[in-house]
Amino acid sequence: MRIAIGSDHAGFELKEFIKKSLLSAGYEILDFGTNSCNPVDYPVFAKKVCLSVINQETTAGILICGTGIGMSISANKIKGIRAALCSEELSARLSRLHNNANVLCLGARIIGTELALSIVKAWLSTPFEGGRHQKRVEMIEWVAE
Ligand code: RB5
Repeated sequence: MRIAIGSDHAGFELKEFIKKSLLSAGYEILDFGTNSCNPVDYPVFAKKVCLSVINQETTAGILICGTGIGMSISANKIKGIRAALCSEELSARLSRLHNNANVLCLGARIIGTELALSIVKAWLSTPFEGGRHQKRVEMIEWVAE
């Protein structure tokens, strides 16, 4: 499974931690930056990661900023992206089961590193349930028409 990951300066350290953990677990990672704690603009990285998911270069994306809010607002502007901002595991699982979320957003200034990693692991290991949720997920694109 190939995962796209990106952050701004506020999420940089958590991104490095998550990337290292996922590489050890055998995931392939495409890192779209940022590459330091120097201030940058989160929409740039949201766009890069989301386009990688939309173009099927990667199967899922992880975006990290200070709160996760800027990343999730930016990501959800892109057609076909279903970004879920999660601060605990249950929402992460349900965002896969019910919403078929293809991007996970995390707030590095909101949650700790170990909680973030457990959220990532729960999110990546949970499949979409389909069934009654299929039509609703399709309707998300209809909302923007
Ligand atoms: C950067 O200071 C901060 O605004 C950003 O990381 C994020 O929290 C925005 O939503």
